[in-house]
Amino acid sequence: VRLDTDPYLERYATRVRGMRASEIRALFAVVARPEIVSFAGGAPYTAALDFTAVGDVVTRLIRDHGAEALQYGGGQGRAQLREQLAEIMRYEGVPSHADELVVTIGGQQAIELVASCFLDPGDVVLAEGPTYVGGLGALSRQEAEVRHVPMDADGMQVELLEDRLAEAAADGRRVKLVYTIPNHQNPAGVSLSVPRRRRLAELAEQHDLLILEDNPYGLLDFDGRTWPSLKEMVPDRVVYVGTVSKTFAPGARVGWVAAPTPIRDKLILLSEAAILCPPTLSQMIVESWLATQPWQDQVKRFCEVYEERAEAMLTALATEMPPGVEWTRPQGGFYVWLTVPDGIDTGDLLAKALQHRVAYVPGRGFYAGGGREQLRLSYSFPPPERIREGVARLGELLHQEVELVRAVYGNRPPVPRGDGRHADDGIPSQGG
Ligand SMILES: Cc1ncc(COP(=O)(O)O)c(C=O)c1O
Repeated sequence: VRLDTDPYLERYATRVRGMRASEIRALFAVVARPEIVSFAGGAPYTAALDFTAVGDVVTRLIRDHGAEALQYGGGQGRAQLREQLAEIMRYEGVPSHADELVVTIGGQQAIELVASCFLDPGDVVLAEGPTYVGGLGALSRQEAEVRHVPMDADGMQVELLEDRLAEAAADGRRVKLVYTIPNHQNPAGVSLSVPRRRRLAELAEQHDLLILEDNPYGLLDFDGRTWPSLKEMVPDRVVYVGTVSKTFAPGARVGWVAAPTPIRDKLILLSEAAILCPPTLSQMIVESWLATQPWQDQVKRFCEVYEERAEAMLTALATEMPPGVEWTRPQGGFYVWLTVPDGIDTGDLLAKALQHRVAYVPGRGFYAGGGREQLRLSYSFPPPERIREGVARLGELLHQEVELVRAVYGNRPPVPRGDGRHADDGIPSQGG
């Protein structure tokens, strides 16, 4: 439905009128076709779970605690689950206690709560460029202005964050939040280096900043390493978001937010106003999964699956891509971020890619502006042989496109890189 033909247009709240389906959502219908190798969605490989064990957990839960599991609960979420989630944080090295947690419907609701807690229309949020589509959605829902800080192989270029802070001050604008995904970032697949974490923490102190630290992928490091968290460095300045979506199952829709006490109290009120309480059934399934199953072994199993797939993708990229294509080298998480040569627009190219039976997400979905020459590949879901096939298809297409651009424009690309507003968007080469 085109917006200008929508008969309800005049009735919508102003902030809703301009809302559109993300590139990813719009793609879902097409990429579900079996002939297409989809690197588009960031779906965890839930088939790696032991379904007999999950089934036993659910059956026993309903049999033994049915009345409680099917009842309402408190707005902050169940105390036992919060204890366990705080334990997961400590397992990753993030200091935490159950009291500071609010259980949410996935990390997404946590981000949404934080956004609605802090942002008035026109407030500035500094976020990595590129950043998580769902994060952008939650921020723009509050009509915040997202300004990007470019990344490289070591994550957000924190020295450029200082420039953004100075620009915002010069514009007379308040930076209400810094949104970062420091570990195995979505979509870039890179992690924030330790020195940069320390510098970001320092800047937060110096400039009185509040940081939204979003960490769905921290436990999915291929070598089992963990990084020091921002929460650990400046606990009073960090609101931390976690989820069981990537370590157990996204269908459970269980996430959480850990915040300083006054903020936590506001988040509980906001969540109660929106949803009354997080789903008791899901909370208790996760509780009993964590209490009775070797969940750390399951996380290791997921890591092995994703590492094998990442390797398949990186090896295939090295053989299939034409010169001039660059990509990041993830050491955990789900994503490879690709930069194509000047003159190729990844949004325009998508239709041809689907004809070549391969799907990706165009880069522009991950920016408030920019990303034309970039795209995200997710290796979490297709098995290695499909990954090799899909990368070969994409490589063939990009070879053709590079030829086409050269034939039409010679060695001078037709357009400048980026959209002018974010001339330094994107991540320089790590390979390719
Ligand atoms: C960076 C990031 N944050 C948050 C989420 C939200 O996940 P969920 O709502 O399933 O916990 C995702 C999911 O892909 C993500 O990649």
